[in-house]
Amino acid sequence: MPFENLIVEVADGVATVTVNRPKQLNALDRKTLEELSAAIDQIGRDRAVRALVITGAGDKAFVAGADIAAMSRLGAAEARDFAALGHRVFAQLEALPVVTIAAVNGFALGGGCELTLACDLVYASERARFGQPEVNLGLVPGFGGTQRLTRRVGPMRAKELVLTGDMVDAATAKAMGLCLEVVAPEKLLEHARGKARTVASRGPVAVATAKRLIQQGADLSLAEANGLERQGFAGLFGGEDAKEGMRAFLEKRPPRWKGI
Ligand code: CAA
Repeated sequence: MPFENLIVEVADGVATVTVNRPKQLNALDRKTLEELSAAIDQIGRDRAVRALVITGAGDKAFVAGADIAAMSRLGAAEARDFAALGHRVFAQLEALPVVTIAAVNGFALGGGCELTLACDLVYASERARFGQPEVNLGLVPGFGGTQRLTRRVGPMRAKELVLTGDMVDAATAKAMGLCLEVVAPEKLLEHARGKARTVASRGPVAVATAKRLIQQGADLSLAEANGLERQGFAGLFGGEDAKEGMRAFLEKRPPRWKGI
C-alpha cells in the first residue's frame, strides 16, 4: 500500500518504517498516525516480516512530537479523539508479535518519545535528544507518556522529564534507561537492523510468546505473572518449533523454524 507520510521497506525479514515529514521534523498528525496504523496491520499480517525498525526521515529528527499546528485547532472532544488514536496505534505496535525497534536518529520529543516507549528496543544516535516538552505548550503527554515513561524509567525520572519539559542528550537518555545503546549517526540504522535480524533468526513463536509474557506480566502481580509464564512455557511444547529447536541443538545443527 502506498503511503504519503511513511516509507515502508522490507529486506531479510526486517521491515523498516520511516516517518517521512522532514519539513515538520516528522511530527505526527492524524494522517501519519492512520498510516502508521495501516502499516502496522500490514506488517502484522505478513508472515515473512519478523522484525520492525522505526526511524525518522532526514538527519535532524526521529519524531518531534504530535503535530502542534494541527493540535492548535482542536477542541476538547477532538483532542480526546486524537489522544485515543495515538493510544490505539501505539497499543497496536505493542501487540505486534514481532520485535519492534526504534532507531532514534534525532529529536524524539513528545509523541516521538512516546513512540519509542511503545517499542520493544530503542537504539539512539549520538545526535538523539529525548524529551516530553508538552508543559512548554501548556499540555501534558497524550500518547501514553505519563504512563509508559513511568514504567520504563521510574516515577522520579519520569517526573523530571515531564514536569521540566527539558530535553536530555543521548548519553543521559541511555543512563536513564530510555535507550539501550548510543552509536554514531551513520551506523544507527544498520545497528538497529542487525539487532532486528538477530531476533528474526530466533524461534518466532518463542519470540512472540516472550514478548507477550514480559508485556502482560508487567501489569500483574508476580504470582499471576509467573502463572502466565508457566502457561506460555508449557504451551510451546505443543508446537513444532520448540521440538525442532531442541532437536537441532542435540543434533548440532541450525534449527529450521516453521513458526508453529
Ligand atoms: N509539530 C509541528 N511542526 C513542528 C514540530 C511539531 N511537533 N516540531 C517542529 N516542527 C516544525 C517547526 O514548526 C518548523 O517549521 P517551519 O520551518 O515551517 O517554521 C520546522 O519543523 C523546523 O523546526 P524548528 O525551526 O523549530 O527547528 P529547530 O532546530 O529550531 O528546533 C526543535 C527543533 C527543538 C525540535 C523544535 O522544533 C521544537 O521544539 N519542536 C516542538 C517539540 C514539541 O514540543 N513536541 C511535543 C509536541 S506535543 C505532543 O507530542 C503531545 C503528545 O504527547 C500527543
